[in-house]
This record gives sequence, C-alpha cells and structure tokens, in this order.
Amino acid sequence: MIRNMNSYPLYDDGEHKVYWLGIEEAEDEKGILTNQYLVIDGNEAALIEPGGFFVFSRVLKNVSSLIPPAQIKYLLYSHQDPDVVAGLNLWFEYAPLAKIVISELWVRFIPHLAVLNGGRVIGIPDKGMDIKLGSSVIRAIPSHYLHSPGNFSFYDEKSGVLFSSDIGAAAFPQGEWYLFVEDFKSHTKLMEGFHRRYMGSTKALRAWVRSVRKLNPKAIAPQHGAIFRDKNVGKFLDWLESLEVGIEVFEKEFYDE
Ligand SMILES: [Fe+2]
Ligand SMILES: [Fe+2]
Repeated sequence: MIRNMNSYPLYDDGEHKVYWLGIEEAEDEKGILTNQYLVIDGNEAALIEPGGFFVFSRVLKNVSSLIPPAQIKYLLYSHQDPDVVAGLNLWFEYAPLAKIVISELWVRFIPHLAVLNGGRVIGIPDKGMDIKLGSSVIRAIPSHYLHSPGNFSFYDEKSGVLFSSDIGAAAFPQGEWYLFVEDFKSHTKLMEGFHRRYMGSTKALRAWVRSVRKLNPKAIAPQHGAIFRDKNVGKFLDWLESLEVGIEVFEKEFYDE
C-alpha cells in the first residue's frame, strides 16, 4: 500500500544529516518509483539523484522543509537516465548556485536539457573523486556499466550510507512499496529481472561488490526500491556476487539457438 510520505531521516548527528525525500501515491501511476536523497553538512547540501518532472514538486517541497534550496551546493547524478536528470532545468531555478556533478562521459550531453552557463557542470573522472560538502566528504565510487557506461555510486563517509544508483533497484508491482528491506529473500524477486536486463556486465558487478566491501557501508540506498541496512547490506552484496547479468546472459535470453 502506498501512502503519501514526507522525508525520512537516515542519519543525524546534529551537524551531518541524511534524508530520504518522500513519496506520493500518484507517482505509482506515472512511472517507475524513484528515490531521492539529501545530504546536509552544516550549511551545505547535496541533492542525490534529483529526478524527473513528475517528482519535482514533491522533492522541492520536502527539501524546502529541511534546508533552503538555495543552499544546495551539488546536484549529484549517478548517470544520464531521464528518471535521474530530467528535472535539471527546474532545479536550476530553485538551486541557482548548485553545480551539476556527473560522469565526464555525459558532460557534453547534459546541455541538451537546459541552458548551461560556464562552470556549472563538474565531470567526474572514470576513477571517481572526492566531493567536499561542508566538513564532510562524499566519494564518487565507479559503477561503470551498472548500468550506464559512465556511472557512479556516491558514498557519504560520515553516515556510512552508500547511494548505489540503479544497483539494488527493485521494481515494485503497482500498489506495493516499502522503504526498508525486511524480508530479503522475497525482495530479491523484485530485483532479479531488473538486474539481469539493465545491468551491463557480471564482471563489472563483481568488481563493484569488491570495492564496496572495502567501504563497509552501514546502509545501501538505491535509486529505485527499498533501502538495505544492518544485516541486509551483507546479504545484498552476497546476492549480487552470485548473480549473472547483462552481456554474460544476453545470448541465452534474446537469441534462438
Ligand atoms: Fe538508469
Ligand atoms: Fe533509475
């Protein structure tokens, strides 16, 4: 059952805060459900996976209840899909100082969405980089081919939350939704088809799992579906490691013998 829900805190130590930014029932009929997140450190904020047109008013409302949108320093985009970037033009108006941060592969594609003044787009190099927010650091972690060829996850060091982009995405049937994964095994049924078809490569997936294990995240928060925390973080990484996806399975799935 989906009900309208405002933002929900994932971390708060007084100075550094992380929020999931809500949901509205009507979104279920318009397109795949998406998650947006806000990281605040002191007077600065980063909006992660800002989203497309039909979520904009809900995200703006929930951001505004937490911090003036003009204090958004970064709009962090994991990749170039419409459900991630399509509201960019709207965010420009409400977050006039925000820099757009996206893989350098997409820097020359983004101007097709909006009139961009010089210096507003920061391209993330393939190896990733550290993004300074207040006194904290958000690390851009390479997740190329998962699913976009220029793709990043974002790791908030202070809270230990890894924003994993489409990795960990669950496609809920209409009318169904929950914020945190509780029954991991049944949740895999909502993730498996998505990962096999949208993720590009098993090899890339396993490389990502290895790099994420080193971070030891406290929670993994995907752009679709539900958030993994506590023991479900490890279960999720084990599950990903055993999964075959993308190019390694496409011959069996799309072509007759
Ligand atoms: Fe995507
Ligand atoms: Fe997505």
